[in-house]
Amino acid sequence: MEKKDDVQLKKIISHAKEYGFIFPSSEIYDGLGAVYDYGQNGVELKNNIKSYWWKAMVQMHENIVGIDAAIFMHPTTWKASGHVDAFIDPLIDNKDSKKRYRADTLVEDHIAKIEAKVSKEVSKAAKRFGDDFDEEKFKSTHPRVKQYLEKINGINERLKNTIESGNLSDLKDLITELGIADPISGSKNWTDVRQFNLMFNTQLGSLDEGADKIYLRPETAQGIFVNFLNIQKSGRMKIPFGIAQIGKVFRNEIIARQFIFRMKEFEQMEMQFFVKPGEELEWYEKWKEKRMRWHLALGIPKEKYRFHDHLNLAHYANAAADIEFDFPMGFKELEGIHSRTDFDLKAHEKYSGKKLQFFDPQENKSYIPYVVETSIGLDRMFLALLTSTYYEETLEDGSRRVVLSLPPAMAPYKVAVLPLVRKDGLPEKAREIMHNLKFEFNCQYDEKDAIGRRYRRQDAIGTPYCVTIDHQTLSDGKVTIRDRDSMEQQRVPVENVKETLRKSVSVVNLLRKL
Ligand code: GAP
Repeated sequence: MEKKDDVQLKKIISHAKEYGFIFPSSEIYDGLGAVYDYGQNGVELKNNIKSYWWKAMVQMHENIVGIDAAIFMHPTTWKASGHVDAFIDPLIDNKDSKKRYRADTLVEDHIAKIEAKVSKEVSKAAKRFGDDFDEEKFKSTHPRVKQYLEKINGINERLKNTIESGNLSDLKDLITELGIADPISGSKNWTDVRQFNLMFNTQLGSLDEGADKIYLRPETAQGIFVNFLNIQKSGRMKIPFGIAQIGKVFRNEIIARQFIFRMKEFEQMEMQFFVKPGEELEWYEKWKEKRMRWHLALGIPKEKYRFHDHLNLAHYANAAADIEFDFPMGFKELEGIHSRTDFDLKAHEKYSGKKLQFFDPQENKSYIPYVVETSIGLDRMFLALLTSTYYEETLEDGSRRVVLSLPPAMAPYKVAVLPLVRKDGLPEKAREIMHNLKFEFNCQYDEKDAIGRRYRRQDAIGTPYCVTIDHQTLSDGKVTIRDRDSMEQQRVPVENVKETLRKSVSVVNLLRKL
């Protein structure tokens, strides 16, 4: 039997297609694995997320500016950043099912299963002991839980060592020793582990001219680092300051599953914050908190989010955490906050031979700033919104409706304008009202089908309000505003509609909460 969460994800995928949010890429040719197109409603939702991020990160901060760097960069960029040598996934194949997996992910999933056992014991005990329950004490004294935690630590340590040393045969041994089986077939018949670079490459120039191999950027961050001095000088930026960017990135994800969670072509929204060395951990904590506030302002329940502090740090980082989101397939990384030290700027100094330093007038000396990065996948944020706001319900009259209770500021359309019937001058009045609203709000006009069906269509794409124009409107100048979530209806004078909408659909409401 299919797991409930898989069923839920499948429903969301088909809803996203049916209602013009997301289609498989080049579907008429049977699609392309892990590549997707955003449809007419998807692009609006995506643009609203981008705009909220850009306003919150760039326009609300005097010391953060944005850029839009090219996707192609000089190939040495990726040598300096470490991506040519180290942007690799350890892959393993199951000989029976012929399925390919990331070897480290198989081990991490195994750890997650043990963690789930710990959580189960903890919640059982919490119920038993009630208010007196001390979770930390329980974990450090309960024999079985202690054993689980020791096991987790041991596996984590071993995984970290194999990754850092690049010892692939030890990683294979770990998988064998833990008795990890193919999640699909249950077979333990594994190949050796192999390394695979995730960067796509292509040729610059024609082959006879001696073409150069260039890469499609796998992160937007490097476009920021190589422009550090341009921005700092032309913008007369003083430390601490940030540079933000939204853009496409490409990764040759071999194991791409779970819809738009792991794609080959996706968008990142990244910000590099340049600080004085020694102050990075303070800024790291501030950015962790600020980014969580950005998420929570959207009104998604806070239980859906959690921090996951990295124990195994990349060699260039001195602190790192993920903001994880409770997707249908469990808590997974949505955003990363990394204290990247001076690793990138130092590497670009070395490879380019150019000084990438900041002259600090107070200290009267130059230094390479340290960097705190916030990096969120736009498509993952899209998926987070879609999966956490989709619901189905049966109404009192027995009819069913499917709703996307999107935060109003993120909804593709803010309001649908609906003449009750397609005659008696109602369409004309409706168009007049729509014309008046459309300069400020993205509106949709719909006059086809019974009003109930039209409401359902708007619920399904997340439109927070419907404005209905009926015969009485022509005499009393009032319309009915229907609320998507409560389905309550109120009659208001036409001239009050804008104000009613503004109160809840404007992104300003979110920004004020930050
Ligand atoms: N500059 C840092 C960096 O790129 P990352 O953790 O590799 O860090 C940042 O990526 C974010 O990009 C992730 O938190 C995730 O939201 C998103 N992301 C990464 N790989 C992705 C993929 N294959 N498909 C969709 N989103 C992805």
